[in-house]
Amino acid sequence: MQWNDEIIGLWPTAVLSKPLADASLVAKLRQLAADTNSPDADLFTLDDPAVARLREEISAAVGAYFKRLEVETVPTWKLRGRVDRLPYGASQGLKNAPGAYLRGVFYLETPSNTESLQLRGDTHPGDLTLYDPRPGFNMLSIKGDPYRNQALSVRPRPGLLLLWPAQVNDFRHPNLSRSPQLSIGFEVVPCANEEKGVAEATEWTGEINEMWPTGLVKRRLPQHEEPNRELIGLIDDMERSNPDLTTDFDTNRFRDLGHPAVDWLMSHINRSVTEYFKQFKMNYPISWEIASWSNINRFGDYHGPHTHPWSYLSGTYYVQIPGTETDEEYQSELPPACISYRDPRAGSTALTYPAGSRFSPNFTIRPVPGALLMWPSAVYHFVHPNLSTEKRYSISFNIHLNFQPHYF
Ligand SMILES: [Fe+2]
Repeated sequence: MQWNDEIIGLWPTAVLSKPLADASLVAKLRQLAADTNSPDADLFTLDDPAVARLREEISAAVGAYFKRLEVETVPTWKLRGRVDRLPYGASQGLKNAPGAYLRGVFYLETPSNTESLQLRGDTHPGDLTLYDPRPGFNMLSIKGDPYRNQALSVRPRPGLLLLWPAQVNDFRHPNLSRSPQLSIGFEVVPCANEEKGVAEATEWTGEINEMWPTGLVKRRLPQHEEPNRELIGLIDDMERSNPDLTTDFDTNRFRDLGHPAVDWLMSHINRSVTEYFKQFKMNYPISWEIASWSNINRFGDYHGPHTHPWSYLSGTYYVQIPGTETDEEYQSELPPACISYRDPRAGSTALTYPAGSRFSPNFTIRPVPGALLMWPSAVYHFVHPNLSTEKRYSISFNIHLNFQPHYF
């Protein structure tokens, strides 16, 4: 694993879009929609050249989606779709598509001549809005940060094809035009065992937007050897005067020890927070406090899944890490002394992806001495058991923002 300074964007939500500049396809499907007597019938069972053309385009998009997710063995899937007609005032409430891989829409008629209304800022008649699938992520968000904007609103137009992961909640705003909004809604669903699904797809040329990634700061501090030696001595001293050092972390005010090695670490943490804000172009004054505590993990010690409430960012600095060798058996997905982060997107883990990719439900890192990791405090993380007789030393911290009105 490389230890360059980086912010990794974990688990983005891929939203695919493509305007199909094919007026005759839109016209033919509009005609088909007008002719259909049973709007709930599965459109994709029809033997029709326009449906076949749309199926081909969606297939290419689905292929691109699985490729972006680094799925090695693409599952077989099929399409299920119908004509959606939204008359005046009609909407589709917040919902997702259980059991499907993807959900999508192809717009046929998108009237925009809404009547004059006094609308709030988040009111977009006729639009489609997708919502950040990470519950609670915006609760402590501030101006300009990547978790502030929960909604992605798309203005429909005829010929626009959109696809998104089926667990994401979407909202079709009310149509406030006197003519109906007409579209084809569809889902990409898994095939039953004996069913023949779509296996291959042509190359896709549309756009893939990666929305709402979860930032993980990963860096290795330069010249950490000498401070680490001092930190180990310091933590050992602290443990001698408080044997409950690791469990009693509330009283463990590591930051204020007034030791040069501690000050060295605190200045690196502060610099990392500054860099984090700089990366997201949050160029206004932000002030914060570091709360920190030290940990010694001995054989068998682990820390179960948890988040850090009332905190903006959380992190750990690694002082000493046992070697990789162990006599104990362990499951390959739980390598000893590693830290894992859990995909915070609600429902996303119902689908499985290959381990190790940035899309697998658990993102696991084997820390090295001198490594500093920092992540949004709302992310579930857990520390695997130390299966070595060597001790593991680390220093954890929370970044508490001193809230000020201009953050909003
Ligand atoms: Fe933690």
